[in-house]
Amino acid sequence: MRLSIIGSGYVGLVTGACFAEVGHHVVCVDNDSEKVRMLRSGRVPIYEPGLEEIIRTNVATGRLRFTDSIEDGVEDSEVVFIAVPTPPLPDGKVDLTYIEKVAREIAGVLRGYRVIVDKSTVPVKTGEKVAETISRYNRAGAEFDVVSNPEFLREGCAVADLMRPDRIVIGANSDRAAALMKRIYEPFHAPIYITDINSAELIKHAANSFLALKISYINAVAAICEASGAHIDDVADGMGADKRIGRDFLNAGLGYGGSCFPKDIKAFIAIAEELGVPFGLLREVEAINAAQLDRFIKKIRDALWVLKEKRIGVLGLAFKANTDDVRSSTAIALCKRLADEGARVVAYDPQAMAKAAPELPGVEMRGRAEDVFDGAEAVVIATEWKEFRALPWASLKGQMVTPLIFDGRNILDAGALRQLGYRYTGVGR
Ligand code: UGA
Repeated sequence: MRLSIIGSGYVGLVTGACFAEVGHHVVCVDNDSEKVRMLRSGRVPIYEPGLEEIIRTNVATGRLRFTDSIEDGVEDSEVVFIAVPTPPLPDGKVDLTYIEKVAREIAGVLRGYRVIVDKSTVPVKTGEKVAETISRYNRAGAEFDVVSNPEFLREGCAVADLMRPDRIVIGANSDRAAALMKRIYEPFHAPIYITDINSAELIKHAANSFLALKISYINAVAAICEASGAHIDDVADGMGADKRIGRDFLNAGLGYGGSCFPKDIKAFIAIAEELGVPFGLLREVEAINAAQLDRFIKKIRDALWVLKEKRIGVLGLAFKANTDDVRSSTAIALCKRLADEGARVVAYDPQAMAKAAPELPGVEMRGRAEDVFDGAEAVVIATEWKEFRALPWASLKGQMVTPLIFDGRNILDAGALRQLGYRYTGVGR
């Protein structure tokens, strides 16, 4: 099928590349001409395992191309996906100005029937507004349908998530649009849930909020483990073995960050309140998440007493492993808090240093993980990169002034480190 994706950010780019990979003809549209030039020359603006390769092969077969013209994209496709940013406003509500602008622009160039699909994460009832907007600016009077098709990909494994999804959600109020959407997703062999538009929009916010709730729940239980001498890993394994609960997203740590959860939870709270159904449970999820970093910094302070002028190594800056994304990264917040208290922070991340550096002017970056141990009074694990487990822990101890390890992601073997003579502190361990 012929498809266009408006917005070549994380979701738009990966979605476009994966649609092309299964055989569709895809035009990716972005109003940033520099980005379009970069993509045309074979460079990919984000780090995502497997993405560069599928972009390269599909551009070569002619199934994937890039343009800065919405008209070009809309003309050359049966289905037009909107994947533009929906950033938060200061009050937590969602800024829908990009969606509205794109809806107007699509309306201005509509000539024949098109399905307009919203892929961005939006508040319930946005589809209705998009349809109203397109009707208002649709001078040619072309037929169209609006569909909601939320995205569930995770950064760091976005290509795999998209190619092998748990489910596809299609919110459509017309059979004609639903049938076209089903054809697009046939090659992915995933269960397809057809709902009305409002329900599809709600599924996205409800799912992300539930995942964040799982994380805050286990972090609250981790605090109880610390207070009682129990072990969070054992508790999470024992709970997670119940199929109704599941072990995923029960990893205690510094709390959730990233460009999705913090913003989506805030948005869902605002949406619920606007609809007259306050969602206090989610406020507690946020409060627990915020307290998680405070509690962790207190542990560092309790051990070192005064942080001023202490050299502290930080491993990890990305908001999670396998990405270079530092948006709302708890690791960045941690570095800032330590630096604010006067600590000399020395950091390393396998992928995220270039993106982190402008946010952390006072923090020294190092080319190798091993280098953050030099002269350090403590080393903190702030992102769950697997490779930190494989560091030569036995010899690194000798580089430190005092061998204190604060594992904010519970990725290290506490017993093994203690045997090597480290003083190890994790979360709920
Ligand atoms: C999240 C959802 O997982 C995706 O399904 C969704 O499509 C996406 O948001 C989105 O709305 O676009 P993502 O933000 O890429 O994906 O990251 P996650 O893997 O969900 O991790 C979010 C945060 O939770 C990270 O900071 C991670 O370190 C933390 N986390 C995750 C924990 O602290 N514990 C866990 O057990 C799992």
